[in-house]
Amino acid sequence: MKILVATEKSFAPIAVRLIREVTEAAGHDIALLENYKSVSELLYAVFDADAMIVRGDLVTPEVLVAAKRLKIVVRAGAGYDNIDLPACTAHNVVAMNTPGQNSNAVAELAFEMMLCQARGGFAGRAGTELRGKTLGLHAFGNVGKYVSEIAKGFGMDVYAYDPYVNDNVINEFGIKACRNPEELYSACQYVSLHMPANDKTKKSIGYDLLKRMPKDAVLVNTARKEVINEDDLLKIFEERPDFKYLSDVEPDCKAVFEEKYKGRFIFTAKKMGAQTEEANINAGVAAARQIVDYFKTGNEKFRINNSNQ
Ligand code: 3PG
Repeated sequence: MKILVATEKSFAPIAVRLIREVTEAAGHDIALLENYKSVSELLYAVFDADAMIVRGDLVTPEVLVAAKRLKIVVRAGAGYDNIDLPACTAHNVVAMNTPGQNSNAVAELAFEMMLCQARGGFAGRAGTELRGKTLGLHAFGNVGKYVSEIAKGFGMDVYAYDPYVNDNVINEFGIKACRNPEELYSACQYVSLHMPANDKTKKSIGYDLLKRMPKDAVLVNTARKEVINEDDLLKIFEERPDFKYLSDVEPDCKAVFEEKYKGRFIFTAKKMGAQTEEANINAGVAAARQIVDYFKTGNEKFRINNSNQ
């Protein structure tokens, strides 16, 4: 079988080497399409692929039509908002993700951004500390759990809200469960977002929640820019000079921030949360193993699309 690794944002070389080892040891061939610049390059590369490993790369109906032999696509990562799942099902393609494999890297980035902001960008002025500050985790999945562990080490007072996680589970981590988002945002100076981008969450972080945050509020987004209502975010920035926004990827309204709110935001140019050697190895090798296993045994453990259409 031919396994295509199609990554517009490439894995670390060591991860690619290990992915190759796993796939070739199982008797499969590997093809690489890294740092590609246009969809046409992807459409050309997928035409004879039996399997595909992607990151945030868009797997659209157009890609699936071009991929005539494709049987399985694995998103090396957690969020799969880049994959058209109904189209995968319609083309008899199994879609999977690799949950948890890059979560620690994303959690560390949330902290790196918080620390950098708290110290005023290391520009020489006195900053602030994280110890004793309140931190709210909006969603308590794999990344939220890692963030809670790091936050406890920093002596932060941690809260979480997740409609899909039982309060007991949250309490077992030694943190406080909130009954609704309003309670979380009212309690916490720092709020860190860890939900996926889907129909329920897109644009769900808006004025009504943000206005509740205490003085010197800091919103940390290592999730997806789509979950933010950017008009509302700009409204809060206009009203509250104490409000800050740290985001792993630039918002669509980046130009307004640069013009009006210097010193009150940090944006990474390219999504950097999972961009560590360790995360690339964990997620990339997990993806390769899932493909090898699927071809060998039919194991669909991490399947994310419907199989009965
Ligand atoms: C994920 O969904 O796993 C993270 O956001 C990392 O995504 P990336 O592989 O596109 O950097």
